[in-house]
Amino acid sequence: MKATLDHVGIAVRNLDEALGFFRETLGLELETSEDVASHGVRVHFMRAGSGWLELLEPIGSSSPIAAFLEKRGPGMHHLALRVEDIRATLAELRTRGVRLIDEEPRRGARGALIAFLHPSSTAGVLVELTETPRSML
Ligand code: CO
Repeated sequence: MKATLDHVGIAVRNLDEALGFFRETLGLELETSEDVASHGVRVHFMRAGSGWLELLEPIGSSSPIAAFLEKRGPGMHHLALRVEDIRATLAELRTRGVRLIDEEPRRGARGALIAFLHPSSTAGVLVELTETPRSML
């Protein structure tokens, strides 16, 4: 199984403040914004070299990102690794005893299939696996 870095997810309370740093100060460009209502989140993707930053804004008070911000404040939320076949990868991880948050892939932003792994199996980091359409690489 080979995985490459796809993006780093960052929970933001104030989008303009985050853009003030990543866009105005660092010069990264905001390429796409999209609501993923099923996850209670609005995502903003910024190209950063061969990978991306994903700014995560909560939609509604029941959003998992709202809960994260409440508990931990703004900051790094997850690391996303791109794999070629997410279903095969999940099956392999299952046989290796890795604890999965998502047993089956679900639809994420940018038309990707995604699944989260539990931090108790991943050195304490919330890891998202993503099978990203080639047009978004
Ligand atoms: Co993500």
